Amino acid sequence: MQAGTPLFPVQASTMASRVDNLYFFLIALSAFFTVLIVALVAYFAVKYRRRRVDEIGAPIHGSLALELVWTGIPLILAMVLFVWGASVYFALARPPAETLDIYAVGKQWMWKFQHREGQREINTLHVPANVPVRMIITAEDVLHSLYIPSFRVKMDAIPGRYTQLWFTATRTGEYHVFCAEYCGTNHSGMIGSVYVMEPEQYQAWLGGGGAPQGASLAQTGEQLFTQLACVTCHTGGPTQRGPALNGLLGSTVTLEGGQSVTATPAYVRESILEPMAKVVAGYPPIMPTFQGQVSEEQILALTEYIKSLPAQGGGAHGGAAPAGAPAGTQPAVPDGGTAVPPGSQQPQR
Ligand code: CUA
Repeated sequence: MQAGTPLFPVQASTMASRVDNLYFFLIALSAFFTVLIVALVAYFAVKYRRRRVDEIGAPIHGSLALELVWTGIPLILAMVLFVWGASVYFALARPPAETLDIYAVGKQWMWKFQHREGQREINTLHVPANVPVRMIITAEDVLHSLYIPSFRVKMDAIPGRYTQLWFTATRTGEYHVFCAEYCGTNHSGMIGSVYVMEPEQYQAWLGGGGAPQGASLAQTGEQLFTQLACVTCHTGGPTQRGPALNGLLGSTVTLEGGQSVTATPAYVRESILEPMAKVVAGYPPIMPTFQGQVSEEQILALTEYIKSLPAQGGGAHGGAAPAGAPAGTQPAVPDGGTAVPPGSQQPQR
């Protein structure tokens, strides 16, 4: 299992040492000033103690040099912490352009993980080493928080919203997964393990070595698309009453009333659960809600299916712009990013 000191989990991701170094610096800085201040208080209390009952303190008229020093030094220290902390934060908040995407759904009281290739796991997560992995996270019921201490990453799982975190694991092994947000009776039991594998082992595992074989997430979504009868209205032909969905994700959609939105997975999710929230221009507001009929995991599968549709073929979905997010930006929610073949690259830093 894990080595490491009793106080600190092992450093098992590229970010771990950066987070720890900042943390150790903060502790050292706090310890230094604590010792300095306590020592000076004690020393001055003795040195300047009252020796006679009628003794009166010496008048003090200020010292410009002293004022400058005790303003300047804390200012410099605060700025060092700000710049250092911000650089670590930005590195944690912005995944590399190319990541292996895995979905996480928090639910009382378990973590469900879905790989795009179709593998599904509960309370265990298999990832390749030395490949940037992005977790796209949501919750089925209440607030949870996905926490992998050895990677020094943590992100809230919020019902109705997609959040993300990313990491590049640097050593193989088994590491803890926790829920770090109180979510009810069995919150403390909402734990699991991350297994970091060599990329080749991970490929083998995806191929069925460790999990039941199944349809890919997009294929699961395709089945749902038919089962839920989405197919009736959202593909071409005489029964088409809603916009075709080819090339939808990342495109700009014009709505009834002239506004436009970018089609993110959050937009797709909302359109499935609350079809009246954003009605596409040129189509009647007739879609029924699927609230209560599809789980968050199924919505992810449907989104993956829509993502997998060829860009050509369906035609307009309301004044669409070319698909694809602007280069060099990382949206806060998943885009149409492609998975990186594990082992084909070094971590991008
Ligand atoms: Cu889920 Cu605490």
